[in-house]
Amino acid sequence: MAMPRTAGAKRIFSGVKPTGHLTLGNYLGAMRRWAREDQHRADALFCVVDLHALTVEHDPARVRRLTRQAATLLLAAGLDPELCTVFVQSHVEEHARLSYLMECTASDGEMRRMIQYKEKAAAEQARGGSVRLSLLTYPALMAADILAYGTHEVPVGEDQAQHLELTRDLAVRFNQRYGATFVVPKTTHPQVAARVMDLQDPTSKMGKSHGRTAGIVYLLDEPEVVRKKVMRAVTDAGSDVVHDREERPGVANLLDVLAACTEGDPVALAGEYDSYGALKKDTAEAVLEVLRPVRERHAELAAAPEYVDSVLREGAERARGMARPRVDAAYRAVGLLPKE
Ligand code: TYM
Repeated sequence: MAMPRTAGAKRIFSGVKPTGHLTLGNYLGAMRRWAREDQHRADALFCVVDLHALTVEHDPARVRRLTRQAATLLLAAGLDPELCTVFVQSHVEEHARLSYLMECTASDGEMRRMIQYKEKAAAEQARGGSVRLSLLTYPALMAADILAYGTHEVPVGEDQAQHLELTRDLAVRFNQRYGATFVVPKTTHPQVAARVMDLQDPTSKMGKSHGRTAGIVYLLDEPEVVRKKVMRAVTDAGSDVVHDREERPGVANLLDVLAACTEGDPVALAGEYDSYGALKKDTAEAVLEVLRPVRERHAELAAAPEYVDSVLREGAERARGMARPRVDAAYRAVGLLPKE
């Protein structure tokens, strides 16, 4: 069996959080690129970051189900365990081990400045719930996910940019305080669809954990449901098709999605339409075309859970071997007495 590249290669790490069913935003913003480009050009690791799903109120059985489903979808999207490493975060202890050192590197103030923390904490409070401490420290765990592997590049959607900035800051600070230990990673975003917006509220991100689902296309939605969601997308006042994210966010979002699905250019595509109806129809069909092979492969893989489990088992073993030396080095660097 071919093994993923290791020594000397550029390393890529990215992850997806099992807090809900994966969406078209996850696919176009991240997963598709991991499968088409990243796994072929580097030593790449892709992780279902289940520990991050515990930062908000959660149902244990649902997290377990969604973790398996997310892993199955990563493979269905084309990640090939012979080319890259696919695993579940909680199967590799090094993430939590290093997270503590990241908490000891970050400051309370910089954690509280994170936009996602502010938004999610406010939403949690509005629901009358309490905000888990782990929601605040989430970026420390995320930094650990990345830094444990000596990652050079992190391919993500635009919404992760601030967390990645913090990760870089923490790596630099740690290295300055305790000696060169971590690679300072760079972030990459896709050229189109780096931020797919909610079809019903095109000023906010299409997010998997929302309560309202009419504006969210899930990767496993039935084709009829996808068609309906796209055809009912909120468009803007006026009727001419132009790509203007400020003034016409609904239409710009449809053009971005269409462009991402057809390898086109959203601005040029705008010139090809003179009605919103035609744009929606073509966008719906383009989305269906992109999702069809993923759904088909998912159905096959879901029928073979023991195969998915074996991929995750081997992936975790490989990941552990990659992370341990660097995390051990970080433990020594901060002054902890080595075990042996
Ligand atoms: P998560 O699970 O929210 O999203 C997974 C990936 O999908 C991208 N994405 C989107 N891209 C474009 N448009 C959208 N509407 C959209 N929604 C999601 C995200 O940018 C991401 O690339 N904190 C991370 C998970 C994480 C992680 C990591 C990522 C934990 N540790 C280490 C990279 C490296 C998150 O919540 O992603």
